[in-house]
Amino acid sequence: MGRDGAGIVGEPTASLKAGTLTTVDFVRILVTGGAGFIGSNLVDLLLTEGHEVKVIDDLSTGRRSNLAHLDGSIEFHEGSILDTDLVSQIVEGTDLVFHLAAAVGVRNIVEAPLKSIRTNVDGTESVLEACVRHDTRVLLASTSEIYGKAAKFPMSEDDDRVIGPTHISRWSYSTSKALDEHLAFAYAAERGLRMSIVRYFNTYGPRLHANGYGSVVASMTSQALANAPIVIHGDGNQTRCFGFVGDTIRGTYLAGTLDGALGQAFNIGASTEISINELAARICRAAGSSSEISHISYDEAYGPGFEDPKRRVPDVTKAAEKLGWTPQVSLDDGLPITVNWWRDNNDQLAATR
Ligand SMILES: NC(=O)c1ccc[n+]([C@@H]2O[C@H](COP(=O)([O-])OP(=O)(O)OC[C@H]3O[C@@H](n4cnc5c(N)ncnc54)[C@H](O)[C@@H]3O)[C@@H](O)[C@H]2O)c1
Repeated sequence: MGRDGAGIVGEPTASLKAGTLTTVDFVRILVTGGAGFIGSNLVDLLLTEGHEVKVIDDLSTGRRSNLAHLDGSIEFHEGSILDTDLVSQIVEGTDLVFHLAAAVGVRNIVEAPLKSIRTNVDGTESVLEACVRHDTRVLLASTSEIYGKAAKFPMSEDDDRVIGPTHISRWSYSTSKALDEHLAFAYAAERGLRMSIVRYFNTYGPRLHANGYGSVVASMTSQALANAPIVIHGDGNQTRCFGFVGDTIRGTYLAGTLDGALGQAFNIGASTEISINELAARICRAAGSSSEISHISYDEAYGPGFEDPKRRVPDVTKAAEKLGWTPQVSLDDGLPITVNWWRDNNDQLAATR
């Protein structure tokens, strides 16, 4: 695989079984949040698959530079999904919308809960309403956060949600994204919206945010490359499953385009569980880093009352059966790609930090 962002995302498309997808139905595609981490990788994949692509992004956490290599190949609109007139105007004439724009990252949500709730709920309704108006299919990007602190593993799409109290603002992200899902199901039932939903578990890879926005891979990678102390929140024994972005966008594409995905939600994530302590050690190895690893409490990192699930593991059986999707890229392959991308793009990342 190549080390630049564009090269990385092209390769996983090989496993899309070219020619078997319903691409004829979806010529013109809009990606909301297309200047972001997952969105810009998805845009690359869509162009590789021969689609015409539009993007709307307010660049609040996304970067124009993520799409710089595509200047002239896509239609870019700098604007907000909260601007209902603009959204309607851009959705008109598109066959499919991948709705990824959202307020993301635990730190963002904790620091600006009101803005985050509005972006995620009002913004999503603006997109869904436009899709109904213009008879456009939509894929909604949701999150494993909607499962909250559920303690059944692995987590299946029909599992109960277990959410903390409303005064802890961290849970507003989970609830706002769950409300997005309810909206999508309600628009499908009452207004005939053709929609499908993907729930991403932790995704990493080229174009991760420079400042992390709560992404543990991003913050550890930048600390490791600077040989600075790696600071782990909690005791580090909490586990997560990290999926490579090339796999994530492939699952997104399949869920967005296949007829069999309509009206359904799919977990998209890696099944291999790793502790945060072990993740730090592997990132240090990939970076050739001499960083020391230390720990701080959640209270120190986020203020009193912060809650973090000990485990989060996806059951991806449904995606395998209905989409023919399974994750292909292991952490051993994906982490060096990510670390190398970070090293190669350090100057640009520093400028946008
Ligand atoms: N990265 C992950 O591990 C992960 C996990 C679960 C869910 N998700 C979901 O995936 C989607 C993409 O996330 P990402 O990780 O690429 O983060 P990201 O921040 O890179 O992408 C979000 C994009 O939305 C844009 N945006 C935010 N508010 C907007 C607005 N009002 N109008 C227009 N654009 C706006 C941002 O500028 C950014 O480009 C989000 O919906 C997120 O909830 C991501």
